[in-house]
Amino acid sequence: MHRVAYTFDIGFLGGGQLARMSIQAAQRMGVRCISLDPGEDTPASQIAPAIRAPLGDVEALKQIFMNCYRVTLENEFVPARAVREALEELGRDPSTLIPGLDCLETIQDKLHQREAYAKAGAPSPKAVAIEDDGANAVARIGFPMMVKKRFGGYDGKGTRLARNADDFEDLRGLWTDGGWLAEEFVEFKREVAVMVMRWIEPAIDPLSPPGKDTQFYGMVGCYPTMETVQKDHVCDLVFPAGADASEVAVQAVLALDGFGLFGVELFEKADGSFVINEVAPRPHNSGHFSLDWGGPSQFDQHIRLTLNLPPAPFQIAAPTCMANIIGRAGVGDFRRGIAAVLASDAGIRFHWYSKADARPGRKVGHLNAVGEDVVERAKKARERFYEAWAVPDAEDIE
Ligand SMILES: Nc1ncnc2c1ncn2[C@@H]1O[C@H](COP(=O)(O)OP(=O)(O)O)[C@@H](O)[C@H]1O
Ligand SMILES: [Mg+2]
Repeated sequence: MHRVAYTFDIGFLGGGQLARMSIQAAQRMGVRCISLDPGEDTPASQIAPAIRAPLGDVEALKQIFMNCYRVTLENEFVPARAVREALEELGRDPSTLIPGLDCLETIQDKLHQREAYAKAGAPSPKAVAIEDDGANAVARIGFPMMVKKRFGGYDGKGTRLARNADDFEDLRGLWTDGGWLAEEFVEFKREVAVMVMRWIEPAIDPLSPPGKDTQFYGMVGCYPTMETVQKDHVCDLVFPAGADASEVAVQAVLALDGFGLFGVELFEKADGSFVINEVAPRPHNSGHFSLDWGGPSQFDQHIRLTLNLPPAPFQIAAPTCMANIIGRAGVGDFRRGIAAVLASDAGIRFHWYSKADARPGRKVGHLNAVGEDVVERAKKARERFYEAWAVPDAEDIE
């Protein structure tokens, strides 16, 4: 196949837990991977070769693109302009990047993302750039209003609620220099997410690059719709929603014209309709349940789709609840936490990211409960985990 020309099959831009779990899936298929990340001892670099450099470093990006058959994302903060420059200098096609370079560029600006949904007629809150003294935003959006950073926000870090003009004024220090948007506040019943896959019909040519033919929409498939509960703006619990948001989720991916795997975040309104919040062009926290549900995992699919191979079909899969584990100060060995959980519920499945820097507030692992009473069991397991983890290690005790 392509082995002759490239040292690696897939390059990952970003070396966190999403790259690590994708690489684990790749390695089971004999697919060779490398990652790029500025951090030392990243979750991905512990299990595969890595280049240590900033994600916007054109020379480092060239190294990756030169040596990899395909390149994909671990996060959407890789500056699209730097990727474009690297591709142009190497004379490689933009479709080498999955989900596609234009798609990345649209997604990494939350305003352009909203504009793409509006243009495609996909349901999504109205948004405008906050300009000058902000009067344009107040006039066009009104209150309550969400004020968001256009670039680089995650885990709620670039998101604020302005209930009225006073709140908006209090946030002036944020938006006054530009780079922020205002959007309609959605009165939602709950938040849900759908993992969407889009690929080229393999009968066409499994190794051809994704096309830009506007007549061509490719094949799409969706994982079940999951309810996502946020705590302090960080995804906390994910379990089956018992509703189907796949139609709107697919509309979002088609509006962005991307290929590969996408995590689509949506709001469900009181009347049961769905509105797009945002799309991540990569594996997503809301898809972690798929590691243990009995069907193909989102990481297996991400690897297949990145290589232009068809995704695995789903068999009947078990209800699964995922609980995130968040870093805390003053904790002991995480294995004590796992032991405490398994002593009372051996069916719980653990995924630890082995982060060198497990700062408080960061996602450091997750657990899945599969089968019966999944939400209760996942919550209970996580409480037990935190209790046992909080006990300092023996050598720390004076
Ligand atoms: N337009 C909106 N209306 C109501 N709540 C919102 C809106 N946009 C975002 N939120 C809330 O803020 C959270 C974070 O916003 P999001 O745009 O998803 O940013 P991030 O990149 O930090 O995930 C969402 O999960 C949701 O709870
Ligand atoms: Mg979000």
